[in-house]
Amino acid sequence: MKLNWGVLGAAKIAREKVIPSMAHHPDFQVLGLASRSLEKAKATAAALGILKAYGSYEELIADPDIHIIYNPLPNHLHVEYTLKCIEAGKHVLCEKPIALTAADVEKLIEARNRKGVVVGEAFMVRSHPQWIKAREMVQGGVLGKVTLVQGQFSYFNANPDNIRNIEAYGGGALWDIGCYPLNTTRFVLGEEPLRVAALLDFDSEFGTDVLSSVLLQFPSAQLQFSVSTQLVPHQRMQFFGQQKSLEILIPFNAPKDRPCLLRLNDGDIFREKEEVLETPLSDQYRLQAEAFTKAVLKGGEAPVPLEDALANTRALEAIFRAAKEGRWVEIPR
Ligand SMILES: NC(=O)c1ccc[n+]([C@@H]2O[C@H](COP(=O)([O-])OP(=O)(O)OC[C@H]3O[C@@H](n4cnc5c(N)ncnc54)[C@H](OP(=O)(O)O)[C@@H]3O)[C@@H](O)[C@H]2O)c1
Repeated sequence: MKLNWGVLGAAKIAREKVIPSMAHHPDFQVLGLASRSLEKAKATAAALGILKAYGSYEELIADPDIHIIYNPLPNHLHVEYTLKCIEAGKHVLCEKPIALTAADVEKLIEARNRKGVVVGEAFMVRSHPQWIKAREMVQGGVLGKVTLVQGQFSYFNANPDNIRNIEAYGGGALWDIGCYPLNTTRFVLGEEPLRVAALLDFDSEFGTDVLSSVLLQFPSAQLQFSVSTQLVPHQRMQFFGQQKSLEILIPFNAPKDRPCLLRLNDGDIFREKEEVLETPLSDQYRLQAEAFTKAVLKGGEAPVPLEDALANTRALEAIFRAAKEGRWVEIPR
């Protein structure tokens, strides 16, 4: 059976990445798109080859032809609309961060369990072979004992109308991109962080964090990462073991039209004999949709289930608390 997806809102990520990546698949199709404006829904649906357009999110949620809903609304609407979808008996793939408090993730877990649907957070990076390879190498001991992880993720966006710069929408660097170094480190190490210290700079006009540096203690390693919404675009993740280091060159916005590179270095500081590993051409958004649809068809777990989202959200909440209180904060389990 081919499953029908519906999309809430004509978000940039949906129009430019997620929907195009889901085209021409034997197991699913994007059947509908809803917008707060019917004209916008119709125009966007027509441009993307989507058959149904709705002038409200509620109409799409109520449509019995839609099986799975992709929720790329601004962060502050994720929980409200994901809950509406679950209550209507729909499966939901919701953009990161799925919630802005751990208590809200717990509400989603309760609703999911009661309705028996599949609900997941759209950390597409987890479906990309470069992260599966990194996890295999780190957990397989290729680097020796890994005790340090470092990450950076930045872009420059000072547009006051962008959802990332609106505090009430759950904007800011940590919620938008700080979630990635945290999520991927948890994935690669297979551990949860124990405690955190953090330094956050806030934009005086927006009230959102624009430069955030975080130190997290995991059971076996330290993670240091910095994220910014107002710095030169850059992204990198590095895992340091006692014998080798592993560097992921485009860790988060992995392109689909060229291979991704991982650099394995055994201490060659001049970087002349580094081993460069290439992952096969992959579209992380298509892989994410395939894995999610398979979970629905076969009755399995979402690729990034709510239990995982709960751990990520608890750590993110603790980061804010640590910065505010200027001290180490234990992360609840
Ligand atoms: N996984 C990834 O690679 C990735 C990348 C980028 C963003 N994201 C996530 O995807 C989500 C959307 O990001 P985006 O940059 O694509 O957002 P965006 O272009 O600003 O789109 C958000 C959409 O939400 C709808 N909306 C409903 N209420 C709104 C309000 N009060 N203000 C503004 N928009 C409202 C609008 O759709 P209508 O007007 O059509 O109703 C709008 O098009 C965020 O949660 C973000 O974290 C994920």
